[in-house]
Amino acid sequence: MSDEKQTALRRLRFEVFRFNPEDEHSAPHTDVFEIDETPFMSLYIALSQIRETLDPGLQFDFACRSATCGSCGMMVNGRPALACRTLTADLPEDIQLYPLPTFKLIGDLSVDTGTWFREMAERTESWIHERMPFDPDATEERMSDDIAAAIYEGDRCIECGCCVASCGIANLDGEFLAAAGLNRIARFMMDPRDQRSEADWFEVVAGDQGVFGCVGMMACADVCPKELPLLEVYAYLRRRTLGARFVAKSDKRNTA
Ligand code: SF4
Ligand code: SF4
Ligand code: FES
Repeated sequence: MSDEKQTALRRLRFEVFRFNPEDEHSAPHTDVFEIDETPFMSLYIALSQIRETLDPGLQFDFACRSATCGSCGMMVNGRPALACRTLTADLPEDIQLYPLPTFKLIGDLSVDTGTWFREMAERTESWIHERMPFDPDATEERMSDDIAAAIYEGDRCIECGCCVASCGIANLDGEFLAAAGLNRIARFMMDPRDQRSEADWFEVVAGDQGVFGCVGMMACADVCPKELPLLEVYAYLRRRTLGARFVAKSDKRNTA
C-alpha cells in the first residue's frame, strides 16, 4: 500500500449484513453506513467507529487486533479476510461485509468458529498418541530441527476459518475437513512422538471428507492470512495416505 493511497482519504460506504437469529422479529437484510476514511484505517477500526458513532448494536468479533487470535474473519467484498488485517486503502469506496459462510451465525458479522474447530479437533484426535508405557527415568528424545520447523509451520494456524469459508467443498459438505483440518492432521502425522499407525491415519484422513475430497483449486491458500504452505500439506498427506493404502493392500495379499 502506498503513502499516496493513504493521503487520498475518501468517504466510505459500508453495506453490512444484519440478522439476529435469536430474535424472532429479525430478518436478514443489509444496513448502509457511511464514514470518513482515516489514515491507515483497518476494517476493524472502521467497524469500531460505526459501532461507536452510528449503531451500538452492530455485532462483530475481535480480540488481538494483530492477526493472531483468528476472531475477526468475515467476507469482505466476497472474499474471506481478517478485519484487523485489511486496510480500507486496499479496498474500493463501496465495501460489502458479510459473515463467513459454513459456520453458525451468532449475529450480524459474528460467527461461531469455535464449535467447528472443536468438532474437527475431536474427529482428528488432535493430540499426541503416545503408546509407550510411561517411564519417569527415560531421557528426553531429541527431534530434528527440520521436523520441529515443519510442525511449527502447521501450528501457525490461527483457526480463523477463512480457508473453510473459501472452500466450495466445505460449503457443500459440513463434514469436509477443509484446509484447517487437513493442516491439523499433517501437523500430527509429522510428529514422531505421535505413534498412530498408517492404518490409523488412513481412517482419519482418507475418503471424501478428507484429503481425497479436496479438488485442489487452492482457494484456501489464496485467503489464508498466515500463508501456510497448504499445497505442500496436501501433497504430504496424499503421499502418506497412498503409501498406507499400498501397505494395507500388500498385507492383504501376503495373508491371502
Ligand atoms: S484446495 Fe480447494 S477443495 Fe481443497 S481444501 Fe482448499 S479450497 Fe477446499
Ligand atoms: S489454515 Fe489459514 S485460513 Fe485456515 S484457519 Fe488456519 S490460518 Fe485461517
Ligand atoms: S482481531 Fe485477532 S485476528 Fe483479527
